[in-house]
Amino acid sequence: MSAQGKTKHPSKLSAGMLQNLKKEHRKISMLTCYDYSFANIANQSDIDILLVGDSGIMTLFGYPDTTYGTIELMEMMTKAVVTGAPDKFIIADMPFLSHRKGIHHALDSAERLIKCGAQAVKIEGLSGHKDVIAYLIESGIPVMGHLGLTPQSVHATGYKVQGRNTDDFQAIIADAMMLQELGVFAMVLECVPTELTEKITQMLDIPVIGIGAGNASDGQVLVLQDMLGMTQNIKPKFVRHYLNGFHTIQTALNHYHQDVKNASYPDATESYHLRNNQVQGNTATKIKQLMEQLS
Ligand code: KIV
Repeated sequence: MSAQGKTKHPSKLSAGMLQNLKKEHRKISMLTCYDYSFANIANQSDIDILLVGDSGIMTLFGYPDTTYGTIELMEMMTKAVVTGAPDKFIIADMPFLSHRKGIHHALDSAERLIKCGAQAVKIEGLSGHKDVIAYLIESGIPVMGHLGLTPQSVHATGYKVQGRNTDDFQAIIADAMMLQELGVFAMVLECVPTELTEKITQMLDIPVIGIGAGNASDGQVLVLQDMLGMTQNIKPKFVRHYLNGFHTIQTALNHYHQDVKNASYPDATESYHLRNNQVQGNTATKIKQLMEQLS
């Protein structure tokens, strides 16, 4: 049983178990999650991994990009997801620049996320912080890599497909090999050509989880609100909608609004009433007096 007293899902994964899935050619499903109520639903779904992505800074808090991420916001989201999904393997993103201020700052940030209940952290990029990745892993913190489009570098790269020219293609392969050598347990590959995903997935023993990276990877990740169709104006090519969330929720809100306006909500079954024994004797007299005073 978990801390919440619910039955544990028998197949809760760990960083170490993911390589077996790859070996057995079993695809890995990962979704982002940022809050308790969605985590609760995800906990009772078949999804393999929940990622407390720093995309939550945008999705949940409305910031324009992930450079606004802070360790405090990541901690808040991680705690909520861990509480809602005790049976899931949960990875938390290291926020913007938290891995670029020296090993001790990075270790402190990772410690804070692990102490919120995350079982692993994800770090974008590689160049300039190999030592940090190696140190966290040596310290017993499982690290997931993230190559291709790394949204925390949006001001340098924009949001565009990476690895399309020969140099970039080769550089991403070299980085992926290096990440594996450093000991990451898996990596995200974001917005790269399918051919590059195929090559890297074949070359590595660790699982490659793709987003906008075609179908050759060992698994897929999507932003929860994107796949639920809750974001109205932006739909990148790789996002598949599994629900028309925006319209469905908007319709429900309008339905509730109408019911309130035409007084059909709440009806008698949705209202509390005095019980028979509460309107006997002295109580009945007091209520009668009260009602007379009010009228
Ligand atoms: O923050 C995030 O949502 C991510 C995924 C896009 C992989 O890093």
